[in-house]
Parts: sequence; C-alpha cells; structure tokens
Amino acid sequence: MAAAAPPLCAWLVAAGAHADCGADEHHRQQHRQTQCLDAGSGAMFGLDRRPLGARRRGSARSGMAMSVALQPERVIVEKKRPDVKQRRVVVTGMGVVTPLGHDPDVFYNNLLDGHSGISEIETFDCSKFPTRIAGEIKSFSTEGWVVPKLSKRMDKFMLYLITAGKKALENGGLTEEVRNDLDKTRCGVLIGSAMGGMKVFNDAIEALRVSYRKMNPFCVPFATTNMGSAILAMDLGWMGPNYSISTACATSNFCILNAANHIRRGEAVSNSMIL
Ligand SMILES: *[C@@H]1O[C@H](CO)[C@@H](O)[C@H](O)[C@H]1NC(C)=O
Repeated sequence: MAAAAPPLCAWLVAAGAHADCGADEHHRQQHRQTQCLDAGSGAMFGLDRRPLGARRRGSARSGMAMSVALQPERVIVEKKRPDVKQRRVVVTGMGVVTPLGHDPDVFYNNLLDGHSGISEIETFDCSKFPTRIAGEIKSFSTEGWVVPKLSKRMDKFMLYLITAGKKALENGGLTEEVRNDLDKTRCGVLIGSAMGGMKVFNDAIEALRVSYRKMNPFCVPFATTNMGSAILAMDLGWMGPNYSISTACATSNFCILNAANHIRRGEAVSNSMIL
C-alpha cells in the first residue's frame, strides 16, 4: 500500500575538493578584550540585600546608592580559537532522482519553468481514496547503478539513494577509476532521509499474518533511515563518517553542514549527501 510515496529527499551532492585558505590571519589567535560584569552582577537585576523596611524608606536615594555600588569590574578575557586549518569546502557533483527529472539540469529547468512534480498516482490502485495525487517518481531505472540481485531485494528508497549518490559521484568526476585511488578510510557518506524502507516493513507485517517464515529477514535493517547511506558506503567500501540525519525539511541543510564540517575537521576528504 505504501508503494508510491517517494522519499522527500531527491537531490544528491558529492562534495569533494577542499582547499587550504592559506592566509595567516586565519590561524592567528585573535585576542579580544571583553568587558565583563563580574562580582555583584546579581545587582544588575536589582537584587537589593537590605531589609525590606530600609528599602521602603527613601526609594530615590537607594536607587542612587545602588548604581554607585555597581561599578563593574573590568576583566580581560582571551578567546582562543582552536588550531584548525580553515578549509573551503565545495560541491563538486550532483545527481538527482525526482518526479521532475533524473538529471540535475533537467530537474532545475523544470523547476524554473514552474512544472509541478505532482501527478496522478500510478504505482498502486488508489481509486478508493479521496486523494489520488502524489510526487511520484516515474520511469525510474537502476540499470548500471545497482546490481540486479540487490535491486530486487531492496526498498525503493534505498534504490533512489544509491542511484542518485552514484550519479553525483560520476558527475563530480569520481569515476570508479578515480575512486580506486582515494583513501577509503577518509571518504564518508551522509544521506539524510525522512523515513526508511516503508514498503519492505509493511510487506513484512503483512507476511507475519501468514507466518514469520514469510518475512523478509532484512525488514528491520531496511526500515531504518540510515540504510541509504549505509548501503552506499558498503557498496563503495567507504569507511569514513557514514550516517543519516532525519530532521524533516531541514534534513538537507543539516547533511550539507555536517558533511562540510567533516571535511573541514580533516575527518574526511569527500562526502556524499542527499538533500
Ligand atoms: C556504514 O554504516 C552501517 C550501518 O549503519 C555499517 O553497517 C557499515 O559498516 C558502515 N560502514 C561501511 C563502510 O559500510
């Protein structure tokens, strides 16, 4: 039943190259003088320790007394920046699997032309439901991207992610030949997805009604949201950071930011991410 709904994610970007900024000023420790209110800052919020009776008498004078007592102590605080080389992180490749096209240019131009990705659902019979439209991915093929044995077994969401991921790698010039020269322990995959393999999980529940023997043994791992990045990492043999972020509409931004930070911190030289 859950066959048609495509995952929210579609864009895939492979970020690779990084460059040292070089300029010394990035490494120089910056000394900042910060003025701090120290001891007695509680008084800033009007804390007056005198007995209530004393406060009631002559409030104008007590206000004055307070401001006099509150000379802030000036403290110089030195802020040390961590000794991390600033790196520029750039996006070097893109790949998409979407209702608006399977090529970044086609997809983007369709967006600019105002085409909608919403259409009538074809994957399953929905004539009994009040809503019969969705952002369905049509004419999708994994040929050349996923080995047939796996594509039969996997959930669609995983197929979309592997295909888009590999397209992005190729698009960024990371062909198989180039990838063989990469240090795989320093290559990571970050693919965010709102949900995991809903169809595989649903089928397993249905199968359970008959017998547990009919269940797909992969129904639990395939239902997890990180299976997209895990399966691509396993396919590529990449052993760097490999996980999934799931924060609804903000997923893509978190993925880009985290992947960029891994590269910046030297934990990876290349990352794939789904937006
Ligand atoms: C990637 O993550 C999955 C689980 O999420 C793990 O099984 C796998 O070993 C990780 N790394 C690689 C290189 O596959």
